[in-house]
Amino acid sequence: MPALARQTAETGGPLTPTPYCDDGDDPTIPQTEGPYFKPNSPQRTVLPGAGTPLTVSGYVFGLACQPLANVLLDFWQADNSGAYDNITYNFRGHQYTNAQGAFKLTTIVPGLYPGRTRHLHVKAQAPGRPILTTQLYFPGEPRNNTDTIFDPRLLMTVRTVGTGREATFDFVLNVPGVPPTDPPTSPPPGGGTWQVGVTYQAGDRVTYGGAAYRCLQGHQAQAGWEPPNVPALWQRA
Ligand SMILES: [Fe+2]
Repeated sequence: MPALARQTAETGGPLTPTPYCDDGDDPTIPQTEGPYFKPNSPQRTVLPGAGTPLTVSGYVFGLACQPLANVLLDFWQADNSGAYDNITYNFRGHQYTNAQGAFKLTTIVPGLYPGRTRHLHVKAQAPGRPILTTQLYFPGEPRNNTDTIFDPRLLMTVRTVGTGREATFDFVLNVPGVPPTDPPTSPPPGGGTWQVGVTYQAGDRVTYGGAAYRCLQGHQAQAGWEPPNVPALWQRA
């Protein structure tokens, strides 16, 4: 089973974009040209209906493993008996990733239909970027080996919880970026011992900008809380 992108990211290498995958049975109306992606499905994270409960959660990352917020994820799937609702919007819904790039879909395990293994459809689009149309798959499905569209890179991690299933999947979109880094720490002008990130106790003494200070109140130093700026925390000594 492929590792989640969040695990691959720990090795420090660039991420591989989630592959494109489309079986052509997407009945959604083609998007008109325009500045905004306007999906036809309702905005919702819960797709109600009878069947085995399923949640799919995860993150959307760019190529440098930066979390992507406000990514549109448009899911659609077959119902419990393997049928798509092409009249109304049953088992269709779109949502947006949050500030951490996270999403969660609450639905049911899609039913099987002839010629295909079990799958979820999804379109993913970061703001101002091309749409990725792809599918997600379930491990251990007998038809995975005979489905010509199946791609093991699109396998979700699935566990059984009670009578339901909890799946996770991380998308990687073709969005360049720089890896998240810790905020830079600026050395104090003129040197000094005060440092961002250090936890100071009342009574500690530092130097900053050529002056000495005594800590009045325990705290963790942050950028912007340089001793001359926060008389509640530091007193000239
Ligand atoms: Fe399908």
